[in-house]
Amino acid sequence: MKNLTIDIQGQIALVQINRPKALNALNSETLDELYACLKEMELRRDIRILILTGAGTKAFVAGADISEMHQATAVEGLAMARLADRTFSLLENMPQVSIAAVNGYALGGGCEIAMACDIRVAAETAKFGQPECGLGIIPGFGGTQRLSRLVGKGRAKELIFTCDMIDAQEAYRIGLVNQIVPAEELMDACYAMGQKILKKGGYAVSLAKRVINAGMDMDLASGLELEATSFGLAFSTHDKYEGMGAFLEKRPAQLTDF
Ligand code: CAA
Repeated sequence: MKNLTIDIQGQIALVQINRPKALNALNSETLDELYACLKEMELRRDIRILILTGAGTKAFVAGADISEMHQATAVEGLAMARLADRTFSLLENMPQVSIAAVNGYALGGGCEIAMACDIRVAAETAKFGQPECGLGIIPGFGGTQRLSRLVGKGRAKELIFTCDMIDAQEAYRIGLVNQIVPAEELMDACYAMGQKILKKGGYAVSLAKRVINAGMDMDLASGLELEATSFGLAFSTHDKYEGMGAFLEKRPAQLTDF
């Protein structure tokens, strides 16, 4: 891959967007590579956690590539948004848990890809924003939809209309990030969170992810019904007998389903 670096340690894959000269901006080539990488990873049973970060210390991802978009036609813009949507939706819905390690600027498409991850851990130095309206466009990689779902419609509108850049503290305050850590501890914090999740039932975690995601777009009664049927489904797993048996026998559980 030209624009991605992938490092797999045990059941954790680190995917780094690697275009530091353009502050890791997402061009079509990078999106293509990321789609191919995620498509392969979603089928792997030996990888349960994906940590996504940007190369260098300055940027996570500074947005979609403005130099590519500048002369693009409407049809090309639409194609780019569709490619990003396909890629980010795959990231959002794959069975693996995704953690965004936000190591610097997460602007436009950068904020949007972080929001497609399950969990966001930010360095104290990270900055977030949706600057698209200042470029004469609107967020096109999911920002109008995922930002309002994460922080509420009012805050999403303010961030998108003003293009204000916010720091990690403010992002934490409004619920855009889960955790803030000193920059030098960012990767350790993400791996620690990954290791903590790995100790839990892999199938149960991915089932909970599916139910949470699907339930967000349902009315409460339908979401509760989906939860009930999925709860019942979990009773058919090895991990349910092992997890509960281990509790009753006062021994550590050996959870293996994924
Ligand atoms: N696309 C292409 N190149 C970018 C880029 C982007 N989104 N962001 C930064 N770069 C490039 C710069 O052009 C510059 O390249 P050169 O060295 O060749 O000139 C290099 O990265 C370093 O950037 P700066 O010199 O600007 O660095 P800085 O420290 O002065 O500023 C910054 C950092 C505030 C992040 C600034 O680079 C910036 O504002 N970037 C653009 C952010 C942005 O508007 N993102 C949204 C894009 S639109 C979008 O994402 C649409 C969507 O919804 C998907």
